[in-house]
Amino acid sequence: MKDLADHLFDIIENSVNAGADEVIVKIAYTESYFFCFISDNGKGISGQEVLDPFVTSRTTRRVGLGLPLLKRTAEDTGGYLKIKRIDESGGTALQFKMYLTHIDAKPVGDLARTFSDIFFAWPEVTVRLFVIRDGIERLILDFQKLRDEIEQGLKNYTNIRKHIHEVSHKEFKDINII
Ligand SMILES: Nc1ncnc2c1ncn2[C@@H]1O[C@H](COP(=O)(O)OP(=O)(O)OP(=O)(O)O)[C@@H](O)[C@H]1O
Ligand SMILES: [Mg+2]
Repeated sequence: MKDLADHLFDIIENSVNAGADEVIVKIAYTESYFFCFISDNGKGISGQEVLDPFVTSRTTRRVGLGLPLLKRTAEDTGGYLKIKRIDESGGTALQFKMYLTHIDAKPVGDLARTFSDIFFAWPEVTVRLFVIRDGIERLILDFQKLRDEIEQGLKNYTNIRKHIHEVSHKEFKDINII
Protein backbone atom coordinates (compact mmCIF):
# COMPACT_ATOMS: atom_id res chain seq x y z
CA MET A 1 0.00 0.00 0.00
CA LYS A 2 1.60 3.15 -1.14
CA ASP A 3 -0.06 5.85 0.91
CA LEU A 4 -2.30 6.63 3.88
CA ALA A 5 -5.36 7.01 1.67
CA ASP A 6 -4.91 3.37 0.56
CA HIS A 7 -4.62 2.33 4.20
CA LEU A 8 -7.77 4.24 5.05
CA PHE A 9 -9.61 2.35 2.34
CA ASP A 10 -8.29 -0.93 3.79
CA ILE A 11 -9.35 0.01 7.33
CA ILE A 12 -12.89 0.87 6.22
CA GLU A 13 -13.02 -2.30 4.12
CA ASN A 14 -12.13 -4.21 7.32
CA SER A 15 -15.09 -2.52 9.05
CA VAL A 16 -17.42 -3.47 6.21
CA ASN A 17 -16.14 -7.06 6.28
CA ALA A 18 -16.90 -7.09 10.01
CA GLY A 19 -20.53 -6.22 9.22
CA ALA A 20 -20.41 -2.52 10.08
CA ASP A 21 -22.83 -0.12 8.45
CA GLU A 22 -21.64 2.95 10.33
CA VAL A 23 -18.08 4.18 10.34
CA ILE A 24 -16.82 7.35 11.96
CA VAL A 25 -13.54 8.82 10.76
CA LYS A 26 -11.81 11.70 12.51
CA ILE A 27 -8.69 13.27 11.07
CA ALA A 28 -6.37 15.79 12.68
CA TYR A 29 -3.20 16.93 11.04
CA THR A 30 -0.52 19.53 11.09
CA GLU A 31 2.49 19.99 8.86
CA SER A 32 4.33 17.47 11.00
CA TYR A 33 1.80 14.70 11.68
CA PHE A 34 -1.32 12.94 10.47
CA PHE A 35 -3.66 11.49 13.12
CA CYS A 36 -6.68 9.38 12.31
CA PHE A 37 -9.36 7.77 14.49
CA ILE A 38 -11.80 5.28 12.99
CA SER A 39 -14.63 3.52 14.80
CA ASP A 40 -17.28 1.14 13.52
CA ASN A 41 -20.31 -0.81 14.66
CA GLY A 42 -19.15 -4.15 13.29
CA LYS A 43 -18.68 -7.39 15.16
CA GLY A 44 -15.48 -6.27 16.85
CA ILE A 45 -12.09 -7.82 17.38
CA SER A 46 -11.15 -10.21 20.13
CA GLY A 47 -7.65 -8.92 20.80
CA GLN A 48 -4.45 -7.35 19.58
CA GLU A 49 -3.58 -10.43 17.52
CA VAL A 50 -5.14 -8.72 14.50
CA LEU A 51 -1.91 -6.71 14.38
CA ASP A 52 -0.03 -9.92 13.72
CA PRO A 53 0.48 -10.43 9.97
CA PHE A 54 -0.59 -14.09 10.22
CA VAL A 55 -4.05 -13.28 11.54
CA THR A 56 -6.71 -12.72 8.94
CA SER A 57 -10.37 -13.54 8.36
CA ARG A 58 -9.65 -13.65 4.63
CA THR A 59 -10.27 -16.99 3.01
CA THR A 60 -8.28 -16.35 -0.16
CA ARG A 61 -4.92 -15.68 1.46
CA ARG A 62 -3.64 -16.67 4.88
CA VAL A 63 -1.85 -13.45 5.77
CA GLY A 64 -3.54 -10.14 6.56
CA LEU A 65 -1.24 -7.26 5.90
CA GLY A 66 -3.07 -3.96 6.01
CA LEU A 67 -2.90 -3.29 9.75
CA PRO A 68 0.57 -4.72 10.52
CA LEU A 69 2.03 -2.71 7.65
CA LEU A 70 0.43 0.53 8.77
CA LYS A 71 1.47 -0.09 12.37
CA ARG A 72 5.04 -0.65 11.27
CA THR A 73 5.08 2.51 9.13
CA ALA A 74 3.51 4.62 11.89
CA GLU A 75 6.03 3.35 14.45
CA ASP A 76 8.98 3.80 12.10
CA THR A 77 8.14 7.51 12.03
CA GLY A 78 7.84 7.74 15.82
CA GLY A 79 4.06 7.37 15.84
CA TYR A 80 1.74 4.48 16.76
CA LEU A 81 -1.29 2.39 15.84
CA LYS A 82 -3.76 1.12 18.42
CA ILE A 83 -6.88 -0.97 17.95
CA LYS A 84 -9.48 -2.04 20.50
CA ARG A 85 -12.95 -3.39 20.96
CA ILE A 86 -15.45 -0.72 21.99
CA ASP A 87 -16.97 -2.05 25.21
CA GLU A 88 -20.36 -0.34 24.95
CA SER A 89 -21.22 -1.16 21.33
CA GLY A 90 -19.00 -4.16 20.63
CA GLY A 91 -17.56 -2.47 17.53
CA THR A 92 -13.95 -1.60 16.84
CA ALA A 93 -11.97 1.62 17.32
CA LEU A 94 -8.59 2.19 15.79
CA GLN A 95 -6.25 5.13 15.84
CA PHE A 96 -2.90 5.88 14.35
CA LYS A 97 -0.48 8.75 14.18
CA MET A 98 2.25 9.11 11.59
CA TYR A 99 4.91 11.79 11.56
CA LEU A 100 4.96 13.25 8.07
CA THR A 101 8.38 14.80 8.35
CA HIS A 102 10.14 11.50 9.07
CA ILE A 103 12.07 9.89 6.22
CA ASP A 104 10.04 6.68 6.53
CA ALA A 105 6.67 8.48 6.34
CA LYS A 106 4.29 7.54 3.55
CA PRO A 107 2.54 10.27 1.59
CA VAL A 108 -1.03 11.02 2.60
CA GLY A 109 -2.32 10.34 -0.90
CA ASP A 110 -5.67 11.10 -2.45
CA LEU A 111 -8.16 11.15 0.41
CA ALA A 112 -10.91 12.55 -1.82
CA ARG A 113 -10.64 9.57 -4.13
CA THR A 114 -10.67 7.14 -1.20
CA PHE A 115 -13.85 8.65 0.25
CA SER A 116 -15.69 8.73 -3.06
CA ASP A 117 -14.58 5.16 -3.86
CA ILE A 118 -15.98 4.10 -0.48
CA PHE A 119 -19.24 5.99 -1.14
CA PHE A 120 -19.78 4.06 -4.35
CA ALA A 121 -18.36 0.72 -3.21
CA TRP A 122 -20.75 0.18 -0.29
CA PRO A 123 -24.11 1.96 -0.72
CA GLU A 124 -25.39 0.53 2.57
CA VAL A 125 -22.52 1.94 4.64
CA THR A 126 -22.64 5.39 6.21
CA VAL A 127 -19.32 7.09 6.75
CA ARG A 128 -19.10 10.31 8.70
CA LEU A 129 -15.86 12.23 8.32
CA PHE A 130 -14.82 14.80 10.90
CA VAL A 131 -11.82 17.08 10.85
CA ILE A 132 -10.36 18.10 14.20
CA ARG A 133 -8.63 21.44 14.36
CA ASP A 134 -7.72 23.43 17.45
CA GLY A 135 -9.59 20.87 19.52
CA ILE A 136 -12.83 21.43 17.60
CA GLU A 137 -14.47 18.64 15.59
CA ARG A 138 -16.27 19.52 12.40
CA LEU A 139 -18.38 17.13 10.35
CA ILE A 140 -17.30 17.63 6.75
CA LEU A 141 -18.79 14.59 4.99
CA ASP A 142 -21.89 12.65 5.95
CA PHE A 143 -22.74 9.86 3.52
CA GLN A 144 -26.28 9.57 4.92
CA LYS A 145 -26.90 13.24 4.21
CA LEU A 146 -25.49 12.90 0.68
CA ARG A 147 -27.74 9.89 0.00
CA ASP A 148 -30.75 11.81 1.32
CA GLU A 149 -29.86 14.68 -0.99
CA ILE A 150 -29.66 12.29 -3.95
CA GLU A 151 -33.06 10.91 -2.98
CA GLN A 152 -34.50 14.42 -2.85
CA GLY A 153 -33.03 15.28 -6.24
CA LEU A 154 -30.68 17.89 -4.76
CA LYS A 155 -27.61 15.96 -5.88
CA ASN A 156 -26.99 13.23 -8.42
CA TYR A 157 -24.48 10.44 -8.60
CA THR A 158 -22.37 12.20 -11.20
CA ASN A 159 -21.69 15.26 -9.06
CA ILE A 160 -21.12 13.37 -5.78
CA ARG A 161 -17.52 12.63 -6.71
CA LYS A 162 -17.02 16.32 -7.47
CA HIS A 163 -18.60 17.32 -4.15
CA ILE A 164 -16.42 14.94 -2.13
CA HIS A 165 -13.39 16.12 -4.07
CA GLU A 166 -14.13 19.78 -3.39
CA VAL A 167 -14.80 19.28 0.31
CA SER A 168 -11.64 17.20 0.77
CA HIS A 169 -9.44 19.60 -1.12
CA LYS A 170 -10.73 22.53 0.87
CA GLU A 171 -10.05 20.73 4.16
CA PHE A 172 -6.81 19.00 3.32
CA LYS A 173 -5.11 21.47 1.02
CA ASP A 174 -2.41 22.20 3.60
CA ILE A 175 -1.09 18.66 3.41
CA ASN A 176 -0.80 18.69 -0.34
CA ILE A 177 -2.99 15.75 -1.08
CA ILE A 178 -3.02 14.94 -4.76
N1 LIG B 1 -12.81 -3.14 12.13
C1 LIG B 1 -12.61 -4.46 12.33
N2 LIG B 1 -13.57 -5.23 12.90
C2 LIG B 1 -13.37 -6.56 13.11
N3 LIG B 1 -12.24 -7.23 12.76
C3 LIG B 1 -11.24 -6.51 12.19
C4 LIG B 1 -11.37 -5.10 11.95
N4 LIG B 1 -10.22 -4.69 11.38
C5 LIG B 1 -9.44 -5.76 11.27
N5 LIG B 1 -10.04 -6.88 11.74
C6 LIG B 1 -9.48 -8.24 11.78
O1 LIG B 1 -8.08 -8.13 11.65
C7 LIG B 1 -7.62 -8.90 10.55
C8 LIG B 1 -6.41 -8.25 9.93
O2 LIG B 1 -6.78 -7.09 9.17
P1 LIG B 1 -5.85 -6.60 7.99
O3 LIG B 1 -6.46 -5.45 7.29
O4 LIG B 1 -4.47 -6.42 8.53
O5 LIG B 1 -5.78 -7.86 7.03
P2 LIG B 1 -6.94 -8.45 6.12
O6 LIG B 1 -8.06 -7.49 5.98
O7 LIG B 1 -7.25 -9.79 6.66
O8 LIG B 1 -6.19 -8.63 4.74
P3 LIG B 1 -5.69 -7.43 3.77
O9 LIG B 1 -6.04 -6.12 4.41
O10 LIG B 1 -4.23 -7.65 3.64
O11 LIG B 1 -6.45 -7.64 2.52
C9 LIG B 1 -8.83 -9.04 9.63
O12 LIG B 1 -8.75 -10.21 8.83
C10 LIG B 1 -9.98 -9.11 10.63
O13 LIG B 1 -10.12 -10.45 11.11
MG1 LIG C 1 -7.74 -5.44 5.55
